Amino acid sequence: MRFGYFDNDNREYVITRPDTPAPWTNYLGTEKFATVISNHAGGYSFYNSPEYNRVTKFRPNFTFDRPGHYVYLRDDDSGDYWSISWQPVAKSLDEAEYVVRHGLSYSKFECDYDRIKAEKTLFVPKGEDLQIWDVRIRNNDDRPRRISAFSYVEFSFSHIASDNQNHQMSLYSSGTSYEDGVIEYDLYYNTDEYEGWYYLASSFDPDSYDGSRDNFLGAYRDESNPLAVEQGQCSNTAKTCYNQCGSLHKAFELQPGEEVRFVLVLGLGKGKGQEKRAKYQDFANVDAAFADIKSHWDDRLSRFQVSSPHSELDAMTNIWTLYQAETCVVWSRFASFIEVGGRTGLGYRDTAQDAMAVPHTNAPMTRKRIVDLLRGQVQAGYGLHLFDPDWFDPEKEDVAPSKSPTVVPTPSDDDKIHGIEDTCSDDALWLVPTICRYVQETGDTAFFDEVITYADGGEGTVYEHMTRVLDFSAKYIGQSGICLGLRADWNDCLNLGGGESALVSFLHLWACEAFVEAAQHLGRLDDADTYQAMADRVKDACETQLWDGDWYLRGITKHGDKVGTHTQDEGKVHLESNTWAVISGAASQERAVKAMDSVDTWLASDYGLHLNAPSFATPNDDIGFVTRVYQGVKENGAIFSHPNPWAWVAEAKLGRGDRAMKFIDGLLPANYNDLADKRVAEPYSYCQFVMGRDHEDFGRANHPWLTGSAGWAYVATTNYIYGVRPGFNGLTVDPCIPPEWDGFSVRREWRDAVYQIEVKNPNHVSKGVIRIELNGEVINGEIPVQPAGSENNVVVTLG
Ligand code: IFM
Repeated sequence: MRFGYFDNDNREYVITRPDTPAPWTNYLGTEKFATVISNHAGGYSFYNSPEYNRVTKFRPNFTFDRPGHYVYLRDDDSGDYWSISWQPVAKSLDEAEYVVRHGLSYSKFECDYDRIKAEKTLFVPKGEDLQIWDVRIRNNDDRPRRISAFSYVEFSFSHIASDNQNHQMSLYSSGTSYEDGVIEYDLYYNTDEYEGWYYLASSFDPDSYDGSRDNFLGAYRDESNPLAVEQGQCSNTAKTCYNQCGSLHKAFELQPGEEVRFVLVLGLGKGKGQEKRAKYQDFANVDAAFADIKSHWDDRLSRFQVSSPHSELDAMTNIWTLYQAETCVVWSRFASFIEVGGRTGLGYRDTAQDAMAVPHTNAPMTRKRIVDLLRGQVQAGYGLHLFDPDWFDPEKEDVAPSKSPTVVPTPSDDDKIHGIEDTCSDDALWLVPTICRYVQETGDTAFFDEVITYADGGEGTVYEHMTRVLDFSAKYIGQSGICLGLRADWNDCLNLGGGESALVSFLHLWACEAFVEAAQHLGRLDDADTYQAMADRVKDACETQLWDGDWYLRGITKHGDKVGTHTQDEGKVHLESNTWAVISGAASQERAVKAMDSVDTWLASDYGLHLNAPSFATPNDDIGFVTRVYQGVKENGAIFSHPNPWAWVAEAKLGRGDRAMKFIDGLLPANYNDLADKRVAEPYSYCQFVMGRDHEDFGRANHPWLTGSAGWAYVATTNYIYGVRPGFNGLTVDPCIPPEWDGFSVRREWRDAVYQIEVKNPNHVSKGVIRIELNGEVINGEIPVQPAGSENNVVVTLG
């Protein structure tokens, strides 16, 4: 069953049936003010942090995605009312038509009911701490109509997300006031903080208003049948205490064919409401702000555009996967309908991987995230698993929470820095290749010598930070010479502790190799030799200790039992170790082929690759919490999305384009547009996991948006399938495609020059470049960096 379609020309996903199997979400805001919004206009806004500075309220884990950012319409003659989004009033789909266009940083809601056509576009202008609701109502009737419009948001009654559920005192410290089309909300009685004031302003002069949620909704009612809308009049109440809302009401008389446009502005800052109201009463400013958002994404997306025979993969790569990857770099794992803001800051490994995907579209943010993570590294070399980058930012002043209620509380140093017992053995390893990738993209070689502090004191260059990461992993090894598992590795639920993790040793090798290349580029040849020797030792340990005959082990418990071996009935084959054995270069060609064949045999399904199989059914605390997760779910035998692209990279390295594409097609969200009832989650976003074959909901996708799958899917397709990879000195084009493809083309911007790359596949191979032409001249190897501002034609022939 399908609920919508991809409109690639407009870069929108268009939902034509509003009763999607779950709310399908989008992200608004490219800077500090952000909103997670569904196709029902349900969701919430926050400023800078989803945990702190919550602007509007959201009730997670209900069957409804409420409240939201709603506009209700009412026929003032009949008393009939509806909402521009299908929910919350939910008119019968036999009598009303709803269309939602989720675009890049905007969502547009359209409704056609009783010959009244209405639309509402929500977006956050660049450079502003506010959200605009651009609303139009048109009378398509042949008689005049009297239509009332009511806006509605429920303000968060604490700046802290979780307090909305459990903090009674916040009910008594906040209040609303009203003046000239603006409801102002004071989050803490008379606070001076900028973040302590929210407002809702209208471009019209309201006929009535409500700052009191309970007056607006009425007792024993909810957002589906608000008393004020039913009565056609708000209570004109603004008051202190209890639950607060913003509703501004205007009655319009529309002649046949007449359209009215108005704007609502939801924003931050004491006294800002009137200023912003005046600004956006001029609709030219609204149009300019919207055009600005459009050109923001036009610019980012133009850095890599592909045209291939696979239109669904093109749509994901060119639009949605990059958009999702950028969203993850900004919001890490803490703002969605699943992650509802109970935590803030960065997950070390997640951000280190996310940042790898976007240096070409968002170099400043990539750099900032790398610096954040380096500041969150301790001198011993490991990264702090979860931390708030503000803690270690010298420009951020520590302000005691008692002095200022809206400032994020700062824990003591002891609480910020965990010891080895809470260290995840993979965390900082991801950062080393990410740093290299950033420099390869930007050419900013000086970055390696920038001095950055350690979380527990002292400082070192970026380059020194990298050596400490590698030295830490070399030191913390077990009896077999394989890296210790510690609290967990990439798999949060594989808690090997004093046991050993195959994945981490493979990552260690990969990080060493990346570092050696950087050291050679910098001419630091002694270091290159030292770390090449380290890489050789790691590789040797991997090849002597981890091969199981047909695939690689996943680890060894602290009692010496193998994890992921042929003699076991549960957790026999694992995706992470086998893919990384290939990507890292540890595996010989023969073993690499066997290992990936075993992945195909044991882990492949129509919906993508399982993380492990068969799933664990017997609790075993030497292996970890994974053995206590239900079978087929999440880390225990689900199709965990994030490592799936690792298999695409591994197959691309082996030159098996058909196999790589088979794996890609299994997971690709866009392939499920016509099976959306099965998938449940939105078809334009990778999800954290898809239920595995050992679960009754096999094929159902869960946790959209904030997942490392997006960044890795993007890296795997752009760098390894299309094969366009920047190096320190040149651009490599080394694709791996299905042999039936005649070719494809890519537009890539790199270091301020444009490369129009055409790949021809006359002999129908998967891999192997036999000729490269740059601007008509045949070249060998990498494409050298071309002058800034130049447009270059590259023709690559496979054979
Ligand atoms: O790798 C982790 C990630 O850090 C958080 N989500 C789950 C993944 C697998 O356990």
